[in-house]
Amino acid sequence: MLEEIRQKYPSAYNAIKVATEASGFTMPSEVLTCSLLKTLAASKPGGKFLELGTGTGLSTTWILDGMDDSASMISIDNDETVLSIAKENLGVDKRLKLICADGADWIKQNAGQKFSFIFADAWPGKYLLLDEVLNMVEKGGLYIIDDMLPQANWPTGHAEKATDLISYLDSREDIILTKMGWATGIVIITKK
Ligand SMILES: C[S@@+](CC[C@H](N)C(=O)[O-])C[C@H]1O[C@@H](n2cnc3c(N)ncnc32)[C@H](O)[C@@H]1O
Repeated sequence: MLEEIRQKYPSAYNAIKVATEASGFTMPSEVLTCSLLKTLAASKPGGKFLELGTGTGLSTTWILDGMDDSASMISIDNDETVLSIAKENLGVDKRLKLICADGADWIKQNAGQKFSFIFADAWPGKYLLLDEVLNMVEKGGLYIIDDMLPQANWPTGHAEKATDLISYLDSREDIILTKMGWATGIVIITKK
């Protein structure tokens, strides 16, 4: 995998990965996804970043690695146990604010905020409150989702939800999107 990416891994990555495996967390983002996120993050110097679904901080550390010193990031998860791994390993980074909250509540309470980059990796902001989160993307900003290719562990009915989500995104005229067969299936959206 290292050879495939040929990109320097974030300094905190290995410690987070070890803690993630020890914790039994079953939903980590793939390193291929993370590498793409880092590259895209670097396209937003001074940007405001939002991550919905921190998990243990694997994607967070890659996004931070792509951000410059003047950028800032809010990352949200509702599970204090996994979030504590992210806090332990990334809490010293002054650019990052880690918040333990229900994503749906947070989105409703922060609807007026605008972001240059949103990685929506939890139900809220992807399958729930999608319009509200797309409204939070500034003009020229990026909205990114993964896990859009069929997976063996999807529950009954989820494939239809994923197809409906892509059809809805295709129908919107205020965004430009590319659907990629990369990693678990990524959709990258830019707001017009
Ligand atoms: C796919 S995982 C995120 C993986 C993470 N981005 C990574 O790099 O490993 C989804 C995360 O969303 C969180 N989550 C689920 N429901 C949520 C909610 N309603 N509000 C906030 N976070 C939620 C879960 O606790 C889980 O950590």
